[in-house]
Amino acid sequence: MRERWFQSGLPEVEGRGLRLRSLGREDAEDVYRLYCDREAVRFGYAPRMVELSDAVAVIDETRRLAAEKTIFHWGVASAETGRIIGHATLFHVDWRHRRGEIGYSVLRDLWGQGVGTRVVRTLLEFSFGSLDLRRMEADVDPRNVASLRLLEKVGFRREGLFRERWEIDGELQDGVALALLRSEWGGAA
Ligand SMILES: CC(C)(COP(=O)(O)OP(=O)(O)OC[C@H]1O[C@@H](n2cnc3c(N)ncnc32)[C@H](O)[C@@H]1OP(=O)(O)O)[C@@H](O)C(=O)NCCC(=O)NCCS
Repeated sequence: MRERWFQSGLPEVEGRGLRLRSLGREDAEDVYRLYCDREAVRFGYAPRMVELSDAVAVIDETRRLAAEKTIFHWGVASAETGRIIGHATLFHVDWRHRRGEIGYSVLRDLWGQGVGTRVVRTLLEFSFGSLDLRRMEADVDPRNVASLRLLEKVGFRREGLFRERWEIDGELQDGVALALLRSEWGGAA
C-alpha cells in the first residue's frame, strides 16, 4: 500500500481552491514566510525559521522523507496563484491498523478565511478515501483555540490530554488528543 502511494514521489491531491503538492527549492521564500512567523509556530508544530537557508533545508528534508516513503509532507498551493500558502502533513501512518496523524498550517495573512478547514478536509478525504485509513488523529496544544475549533468543526472528538508531552524552548506543553473515525466522517463538502 505504502509503496503504491509513493511510487512516483509524493502524490498530488486536489482540494477546493488548493492543491497539496511536493515542495521544491523554488518555493523557499514562500516556505520561509510561513515558518518565520513567531505567532504561527507558537504552539510548536515546527521550529521557527530565521533565514532562507532554513527553508531550503526543510524542503530538502521533505523530499528525502517522501523518497524514503515515510511521511506525506505537502506544500499547500493556492489554485489561483500556485504559490505556497500552507503545509499539510500525514504522518505516523500505521498501515496495518489503518490509522494516521495530521498536521497543517496556513499563512497568517489568510487566517480566518476557511483555508485551514479546506486543507484538513482535503487531508481527510485523501486519508479515508484514497488511502483507506479508518482513524485519523491529531495532537493540539490546549491553547491553540483556532486549531481545536477547526478539528471539532470537521468532526474530531477529544479523547484525552497528554500532560507535559512537549518541551519547546524550555516550556512544557500539554497536548489534547483528538481523533476522527471514518465511520463518523461526513465527507469533504
Ligand atoms: C490552525 C490554523 C491552520 C487555522 O487556519 P485558518 O485558515 O484560520 O482556519 P479556518 O479559517 O478554516 O477556521 C477554522 C475555525 O477556527 C476558527 N478560528 C480561526 N482562528 C481563530 C481564533 N484565533 N480564535 C478562535 N477561533 C478561531 C474559525 O472561526 C473557524 O470556525 P468557524 O467556521 O466556526 O468560524 C491556523 O491558525 C494556523 O496556521 N495556525 C498556526 C499553525 C498551527 O497551529 N497548526 C496546527 C497545529 S495542531
